[in-house]
Amino acid sequence: MKTRAYIAATGSYLPDYILTNTEIATMVDTNDEWITERCGVKERRILKDKDKATAFMAKEAAERALQKCHCNKDTIEVVIVATATPEHLFPSTSAIVAEMLGIKNAWCFDVMAACSGFLFALNTASKLIESGAYSNILVIGSDKMSAIMDFTNRNTCVLFGDGAGAVLLKTTASGNGIINSVLKTDGSGYKNLFQKAGGSLFPASAETVANKEHSITMAGQTVFKTAVTGMAESCTRLLKETGLTKNEVEYLIPHQANIRIINSIIDFLEIDKNKVAINIHKYGNTTCASIPICLDEWSGKFNSGDNIVISAFGAGYSWGSMLLKWHRPD
Ligand code: ACO
Repeated sequence: MKTRAYIAATGSYLPDYILTNTEIATMVDTNDEWITERCGVKERRILKDKDKATAFMAKEAAERALQKCHCNKDTIEVVIVATATPEHLFPSTSAIVAEMLGIKNAWCFDVMAACSGFLFALNTASKLIESGAYSNILVIGSDKMSAIMDFTNRNTCVLFGDGAGAVLLKTTASGNGIINSVLKTDGSGYKNLFQKAGGSLFPASAETVANKEHSITMAGQTVFKTAVTGMAESCTRLLKETGLTKNEVEYLIPHQANIRIINSIIDFLEIDKNKVAINIHKYGNTTCASIPICLDEWSGKFNSGDNIVISAFGAGYSWGSMLLKWHRPD
């Protein structure tokens, strides 16, 4: 039987502070009804501590996953952090997280694919495991979106929240594990969703700060339509390539960007809503963290052999879907 990667443990971290729609309505011209109806968000978590950011949340989520499976940190060979809000522009956030965790025997790198980042990182890690070269890989999605949110812009500030999720990948020859994924990037629409300044093209300056170019710029409707099409298209290809029918999908883990995007993929897959991970009402869009947080909250429901589809869409544009058969070792 082919060697595959499987999720041996999950963990997540959400900051304590709850920012409600009512509180957001004191900052911008919006209201609970609009945000709930158009986005599906009721509240989101915000990391208030000035001295803590993406790496801290990643560390907390990873620590919880590692504790669950009593993992000896010396056995971890690779640490991958997916994030759109790195601790610093360099070095990698994963290097800082590994140091915080006391992981000494791993090599580490970050993946930048915005809201698809965790999916891209998971696919990369599973291929490293399938190569036979590695058998213990920590994959983390962590984002402090509040660091790049403009709390005077109602088009974006209602959508996002902070958080982190982590999984430990191990090797199995059971036939279960990560089966296949269909991933795609199309850079032609990158300006529809980006953080303009702070990189090498527009380094931080008094002007970029004054123009609020360090926060999220988004063409909401265009992104919305492309997300719906991209997620459905990648699911179609995934099912075709794996020979699975829609009614054989037991659980769906969609990226949590907007409840209306999630509902459109539910309709497309014709899947029972009870089999879909939804927590956008509690956390908003946590970008790279949304899928691993869902995995952590839903994994208790999964049985060995269950067909689970993960689907994501994000800036870039980047998107894709993955099929995994849940594996629970005896
Ligand atoms: N509160 C109240 N009214 C608002 C708000 C708000 N927060 N935001 C916009 N409106 C108003 C608009 O001004 C407009 O009013 P008008 O008709 O008088 O002009 C009206 O509501 C409709 O605005 P739209 O922009 O058409 O609203 P839409 O239904 O498209 O919802 C939203 C906007 C929620 C941003 C939606 O387009 C969306 O979710 N897009 C996808 C976003 C997304 O997925 N982004 C993340 C991808 S992940 C990543 O990679 C980071």
